[in-house]
Amino acid sequence: MLYRRLGNTMERIPAIGQGTWKFGESKLNEKQEIEALRFGLTNGLKLIDTAEEYGNGGAEKIVGQAIQDVRKEVFLVTKVSAKNCSFNGVLRAAEASLKRLKTNQIDLYLQHWPSEQYEISETMGAMVELVKLGLIKYVGVSNFTPDLMKEAQQCLGSIPLVCNQVAYHLNDRRIENDILPYCKENNITVMGYSPFGYAPKIFGMDGFPEVGTKERDVLNIIANKYNASVYQVALHWVLKEEQLVTIPKAVNKEHIEDNLKALSLKLDKDDLEQIELIFPQNKYHLVNKTQ
Ligand SMILES: NC(=O)c1ccc[n+]([C@@H]2O[C@H](COP(=O)([O-])OP(=O)(O)OC[C@H]3O[C@@H](n4cnc5c(N)ncnc54)[C@H](OP(=O)(O)O)[C@@H]3O)[C@@H](O)[C@H]2O)c1
Repeated sequence: MLYRRLGNTMERIPAIGQGTWKFGESKLNEKQEIEALRFGLTNGLKLIDTAEEYGNGGAEKIVGQAIQDVRKEVFLVTKVSAKNCSFNGVLRAAEASLKRLKTNQIDLYLQHWPSEQYEISETMGAMVELVKLGLIKYVGVSNFTPDLMKEAQQCLGSIPLVCNQVAYHLNDRRIENDILPYCKENNITVMGYSPFGYAPKIFGMDGFPEVGTKERDVLNIIANKYNASVYQVALHWVLKEEQLVTIPKAVNKEHIEDNLKALSLKLDKDDLEQIELIFPQNKYHLVNKTQ
């Protein structure tokens, strides 16, 4: 496994983790989801990303079951929903997450989205309290613009903001305009979500290049050259900067194995240039969106 430094800390986290959106929504899938997480952990994917929102707490329960006997080996990330971002709301949400995750500390706790209702100072105040209580180890945010990250850090005082989790995939390179440079400058890890564009596609945005498109054809040619899959090429591309880690979601074990192979892929300069040409950097920025 390739490890990357978390923010300005001495913590090393896996460059590829496991996403859990859509987990815990149906009893019927429980066994497969737990097995997938266990399989990923056995093979080095020791960072798990979840959220109180996923499956209404169901995803955290699945994660709790999957990691019970190996908790110490896992870097556990979960998120407080924007609607719970009052001071007391954050404390209550963290305690409920800890219970569902069957653990006494969350490694990295993120504000899931900027909140419409609550000031960042109130939310970050609660994060500071959780660090002091030892209930969370590190503080981060998700879907934050540079302005909001700056405000969050000011509110955190001496506690570093170590991570911003944001969409990053071949068809969505908005973060390269401002978020990625800001994070590089300020030693903040960018945890790229939806590396295959799955969630964006569900919300009507560009997802993974469809079969039959010229973008997919270019990916196919590159992938074939290395006897790799197009998904490996996409993951490899996402990890091109030291500041980045990524959290693909996969319940299919073949997908997990496939994704792991992205780490040994080495694309030559021409192929990377081809990717740049066919998936140009988006001109627009991530806007301040609240929930
Ligand atoms: N902070 C936020 O606001 C936010 C928003 C969205 C997502 N996230 C996080 O990011 C994680 C990942 O994003 P995502 O859930 O949108 O999905 P994604 O990682 O972009 O894509 C997941 C989809 O790709 C498939 N897949 C995975 N590996 C594959 C492979 N090698 N070949 C073919 N198909 C493959 C999966 O299939 P199978 O499952 O069938 O294997 C699944 O259908 C989420 O689960 C969540 O933890 C965070």
